Amino acid sequence: MLPESTPFSLWLSWMEAPQGQGFLICFLHCSFPNPFMLADLDMLASRHQAFCQALPQVSPFYAVKCNSSPWVLCVLAALGTGFDCASQVELEQVLGLGVAPSRIIYANPSKPASHIRYAARHGVQLLTFDSEEELTKVAQHHPGARLLLRLRTQDRQSTFPLSTKFGASLEACGHLLTSARDLGLAVVGASFYVGSNCQTPQSFTQAIADCRCVFEMGHGAGHDMSCLDIGGGFPGTEDSGPKVISAALAQDFPEERGVKVIAEPGRFYMESFCTAAVNIIAKKAVLEPGGSRQLMYYLNDGHYGSFRLGHRKPVPRVPIVVKVRGPLQPQESSPLP
Ligand SMILES: Cc1ncc(COP(=O)(O)O)c(C=O)c1O
Repeated sequence: MLPESTPFSLWLSWMEAPQGQGFLICFLHCSFPNPFMLADLDMLASRHQAFCQALPQVSPFYAVKCNSSPWVLCVLAALGTGFDCASQVELEQVLGLGVAPSRIIYANPSKPASHIRYAARHGVQLLTFDSEEELTKVAQHHPGARLLLRLRTQDRQSTFPLSTKFGASLEACGHLLTSARDLGLAVVGASFYVGSNCQTPQSFTQAIADCRCVFEMGHGAGHDMSCLDIGGGFPGTEDSGPKVISAALAQDFPEERGVKVIAEPGRFYMESFCTAAVNIIAKKAVLEPGGSRQLMYYLNDGHYGSFRLGHRKPVPRVPIVVKVRGPLQPQESSPLP
């Protein structure tokens, strides 16, 4: 996407940046003083195709929180994805593009009453919940909602686990399902989230098996259980996840049961989509305890900017030269001088 005349002397790339974005350094004589993001819109179509090929039985509802840029949402809307919104602002953004409310899930188990009313007014019916308190709110503000019961998962291996915050335990589900029925609310299925960048596909297997139990409990409580939401958490690089997930779905939710299966991928679509372009703005020589001299480089973006998720789990990064312009001619893939 950069014009040929872009006046960088040298481009370096750092793989495995936080938030899954590729990470690109522009070094020396750069005429863009501020860091910026490069976006490859073609990549969205490729990632969508990759998702649909890997899990053809699952409809993706893109997680808007991952990147809510209007360009991203427009392209994905045109490609026909659904959308996972976590707040009124996200609902407004997606509805504003003309996306039908039936293509949206309001997938936040703890919602402000005013946002629930907004969803009700605009016909967004699919909502998640994980507590009795939330059921009371929904009964008051959106009695026609179609609810998914969000389950707690084993997500300790993920880069960004959320199960301490969201998700009901399996033991609590029976009570929640009867409470919903007694309040006149329709529970239509179950959902879960295994945490971002899930490295253990078995977490999906366990969660899908737990959802099967919830479906049985739901049927027992008189609900018409017809939708399974397997959340997000898919790594942005190819892995064994889809095979394991497909096997678990075939085992617990075979197609003949007629359950609609949806997912909320974010990182899967975004990891290769964005590249952060930053400058080295200073360097400093420091003497190590053994007497060796090291150079430290300072960037104009960092942990309090684009790389804030790096606080949780720093990812080691290797700089690679990807493009050379101007007088400097370093070796391909050479380390920084
Ligand atoms: C409920 C829910 N669904 C989906 C996502 C997107 O996750 P990922 O980017 O790991 O696919 C998140 C991220 O926090 C989430 O909380």
